[in-house]
Amino acid sequence: MGKILAVNGSPRVDGNTAEMLGTVLAVCEKAGHETEIYQAGGKSVRGCLACGGCGKHIGRCVTEDWVNELYPKMVNADAIILGSPTYFADLTPEIKAVIDRTGYISRRDGMKFSRKIGAGVSAVRRAGSIHALDSINHFFLINDMIVPGSSYWNMSLSRDKGEYERDDEGVKTMLRLGENIVWLLEKLS
Ligand SMILES: Cc1cc2nc3c(=O)[nH]c(=O)nc-3n(C[C@H](O)[C@H](O)[C@H](O)COP(=O)(O)O)c2cc1C
Repeated sequence: MGKILAVNGSPRVDGNTAEMLGTVLAVCEKAGHETEIYQAGGKSVRGCLACGGCGKHIGRCVTEDWVNELYPKMVNADAIILGSPTYFADLTPEIKAVIDRTGYISRRDGMKFSRKIGAGVSAVRRAGSIHALDSINHFFLINDMIVPGSSYWNMSLSRDKGEYERDDEGVKTMLRLGENIVWLLEKLS
């Protein structure tokens, strides 16, 4: 059975992004896969220092913080889901830090994300989620990963906590994304 890791990039631990990730993970769990949600949102953000340290100390970032805790979880996962609310039509800084820092660490570590499944999801009040999802997909696609789709783009129209559950199409999109991750995991195993 596969391992699915979801990273919540929202500082709201029980917000819309968390609920969206929960829907996807529930489908994966029901199919017998192991799941984990990692709370990145709200943690102190340090960007990539462009120091090249990850080329010398393989598998680690010189900045000793939560990104070094998260990286091995990503390496051990078969599927990685990055969830970010849309902030000013883009990612939260927590998810950008995950992308820049684990992206560089993994590339110096023998392309450790190669052929893993990658999916992004984004909660959005009104506009900008496509751009946020594009940013996440760029990360997956340069890292030799495989990106499943769904019946719509992986977003929910939601602002306040709990609004995601009332967005029927958003819920349907997350359920189908979960089904497609499970389908792909089984094909790849
Ligand atoms: C700093 C900030 C910037 C935001 N920028 C946008 C935006 O560009 N477009 C939009 O439709 N909603 C925007 N929102 C609203 C959030 O995307 C929306 O509330 C979302 O549901 C939050 O997800 P969460 O509950 O997982 O935190 C913004 C919210 C914050 C706090």
